[in-house]
Amino acid sequence: MKIAMVGSGYVGLVSGACFADFGHDVICIDKDQGKIDRLHEGIMPIYEPGLDALVETNVKAGRLSFTTSLAEGIKDASAIFIAVGTPSRRGDGHADLSFVYAVAKEVGESLSNDAVIVTKSTVPVGTGDEVERILEDSGAKHRFAVVSNPEFLREGAAIGDFKRPDRIVIGAEDDFGRDVMSEVYRPLFLNESPILFTSRRTSELIKYAANAFLATKITFINEMADLCEKVGANVQDVSRGIGMDNRIGAKFLHAGPGYGGSCFPKDTLALLKTAEDYDSPTRIVEAVVKVNESRKRAMGRKVLEALGGVDEARGKKAALLGLTFKPNTDDMRDSPAIAVAQTLTDAGVEVSAYDPEGMELAQPLMPEVKMCDDPYAAIEGADATVIVTEWDAFRALDLSRVAELANSRVLVDLRNIYSPDDVRARGFIYASIGRE
Ligand SMILES: NC(=O)c1ccc[n+]([C@@H]2O[C@H](COP(=O)([O-])OP(=O)(O)OC[C@H]3O[C@@H](n4cnc5c(N)ncnc54)[C@H](O)[C@@H]3O)[C@@H](O)[C@H]2O)c1
Repeated sequence: MKIAMVGSGYVGLVSGACFADFGHDVICIDKDQGKIDRLHEGIMPIYEPGLDALVETNVKAGRLSFTTSLAEGIKDASAIFIAVGTPSRRGDGHADLSFVYAVAKEVGESLSNDAVIVTKSTVPVGTGDEVERILEDSGAKHRFAVVSNPEFLREGAAIGDFKRPDRIVIGAEDDFGRDVMSEVYRPLFLNESPILFTSRRTSELIKYAANAFLATKITFINEMADLCEKVGANVQDVSRGIGMDNRIGAKFLHAGPGYGGSCFPKDTLALLKTAEDYDSPTRIVEAVVKVNESRKRAMGRKVLEALGGVDEARGKKAALLGLTFKPNTDDMRDSPAIAVAQTLTDAGVEVSAYDPEGMELAQPLMPEVKMCDDPYAAIEGADATVIVTEWDAFRALDLSRVAELANSRVLVDLRNIYSPDDVRARGFIYASIGRE
């Protein structure tokens, strides 16, 4: 089956490469000429473990190709996926659907055979209806169906998630849509991945409900961590103690600096807007958004405290280890590191940083921060070393070297990857989350 993937970013490129690996004939389309040129040269435009090898194998096998031309790319495709960005709209927090609608219009104008148009981008309820209207208005002359197929992959583990999903959700309104999508995902039926067929609107809402629930779980344990600090309890044990209950589950119960990334912040906001529009407020999600937003700067204040308080901190130096919103990605969108760095520089702290993959994208977001070639270069002369993102490279720092290079033995661990007893035994002042 021929599949066209419009938008070759974190989702489009991974999905396209995985579909090709299943044996489909896939063409990834992007309007960013630089991105497509790099892909033609075998250079990945994003960092995602295993993606370069997967792309190379499938390009060599003739199953995966790239183009900037939508009309050329969608020719003969039975399924046309829309995987473009849906960022927060400036000013009001609604999902910005201009990229999705622009693609729908172009597809409608160029459609040269019967096809199913699949929204893989995360889009608010009712977007599929609007995509259908745009296709009709743009004079599409062939039979089409508009289907919702939200994506649940996690950056950093995207290929595994795509190939072995917990579930596939397909929102279709007719047999044409359902049949083509069954064919698209047939290789995964054989893997026995559960597939849930729903109405289109239900499918659209499932994606937002899933992300809002996960954001709530993270925010819940973050607030428990704050309480642990006040009452002298240990949040990691609280997480274990509640996570062993199957009704709760152990995942997404790691206290940290607040959720960030390309999805949770914008999707929780967009869900609030949908709820508002339909006069059906989602008060829990409202609270989650507020709590998470204030948490990021609170993490910066935690570092200031470790530096002796706001007044003492001015002129001191902090080293940030990890800048991306989570490990194994170069994605800096809404990373808590941005607010932490900002809080520190606002207080007159000199900040140096190291991240294995994120520094190029991070630098313009934190122009005052000095990027370093390795963790120890960042730590040199630091009055506090701060673990912001739990990259494996930071799990076994040479603490003797840190003690030698740093100005003070102060470690702030915003991801709880060290044992307080071990670090304190090495003569460090140690602060973490919910374990004081
Ligand atoms: N990143 C994730 O982990 C993730 C996970 C699940 C769902 N999603 C959702 O998937 C969607 C895409 O996210 P992403 O992170 O891959 O975004 P991205 O910004 O990495 O990629 C989007 C791509 O679309 C391209 N594009 C924009 N308009 C285009 C057009 N008219 N024609 C062709 N290409 C066009 C851009 O150049 C860009 O390369 C979003 O709705 C997001 O919420 C993302």
